[in-house]
Amino acid sequence: MTVIVTGAAGFIGMHVAERLLERGETVVGVDNFNTYYDPALKPARAERLERHPAFRMVRMDIAEAEAFEALVRETGAKRIVHLAAQAGVRYSIENPFAYERANLAGHLSVLEAARRTEAEHLVYASSSSVYGDRPLAGQGFSEDDPTDSPVSLYAATKKANELMSASYANLYGIPQSGLRFFTVYGPWGRPDMAYFSFTQKILAGEPIEVFGEGRMARDFTYVDDIVDGIIGVLDCPAEPQAPRVLNIGDSRPVGLMDMISTLEAALGREAIKVFRPMQPGDVTATYADVAKLNALTGYDPKVKLEDGIPRFVEWYRGFYG
Ligand SMILES: NC(=O)c1ccc[n+]([C@@H]2O[C@H](COP(=O)([O-])OP(=O)(O)OC[C@H]3O[C@@H](n4cnc5c(N)ncnc54)[C@H](O)[C@@H]3O)[C@@H](O)[C@H]2O)c1
Repeated sequence: MTVIVTGAAGFIGMHVAERLLERGETVVGVDNFNTYYDPALKPARAERLERHPAFRMVRMDIAEAEAFEALVRETGAKRIVHLAAQAGVRYSIENPFAYERANLAGHLSVLEAARRTEAEHLVYASSSSVYGDRPLAGQGFSEDDPTDSPVSLYAATKKANELMSASYANLYGIPQSGLRFFTVYGPWGRPDMAYFSFTQKILAGEPIEVFGEGRMARDFTYVDDIVDGIIGVLDCPAEPQAPRVLNIGDSRPVGLMDMISTLEAALGREAIKVFRPMQPGDVTATYADVAKLNALTGYDPKVKLEDGIPRFVEWYRGFYG
């Protein structure tokens, strides 16, 4: 049985598609290969997947609803992992309409295709950004906590996706699971994220800008753990009228300065740091309570930042030379 993975030329999508292929599934990837970041990365990820005979990449804008539905029908896929989106908090300040197209029209298009083809399970990406700006408290953010004060348009579109999905579950009974990802990192990562751009700058001997004066914290989650969680959820379809929303994080938040120290150690170089205030759209901290996901799938993230960052650095040196 075929699985559709949207955003398969993206960071998380490539890793999910790869794992599905490894366990013997047929995968159809969908991506529009937009040029939001280093245009060399997406074809390189696609090429890696295309080496596998059970993989096919379709270059398509998911917001093209008719074309996307026709593709789902043609493949006979009953499971969709929907990861295509315009990501990035800061970019949404400058380019709001990119988020309207990819995240709102795109998600609606996927929902319509899932409804019309009677999908058995739609697993889609939400984000920890729905929790808004919260201090790092004693316990992780829970799915039952309020999510009605987004501090970026990106966050608002992810919250909108959860509500759109809930409406489609109520109306049409589509089994759906939304996953709130917490700062995913690792090999083949996204150049717009801090650990990646810091690596580029530290190796080039350029200063790095440390926002929030270095006082932010993130629940960094290694990509292999995220893939474990996504596939674990994919294998447990939700009840048609009971859409799920689940956190998926590491549950061990790390201060920005500690992340930088880990990176410096892996690179064997010290960063030149320029401290800056927090930027619009940024949040102080993220921290996932993953009890619900653990109860459903046994999810248990394994890779600590001290182990994951060197793996990223090793990939980075290999890819960029
Ligand atoms: N990486 C993280 O830390 C993180 C955190 C929270 C949520 N997420 C979400 O997880 C998902 C995957 O993120 P990622 O880090 O792999 O990002 P990514 O940008 O690497 O991957 C997204 C892919 O979607 C594609 N895409 C964008 N708009 C499209 C469209 N209209 N039609 C077809 N393809 C389109 C892009 O070309 C890209 O390859 C996204 O929904 C993102 O919002 C990621």
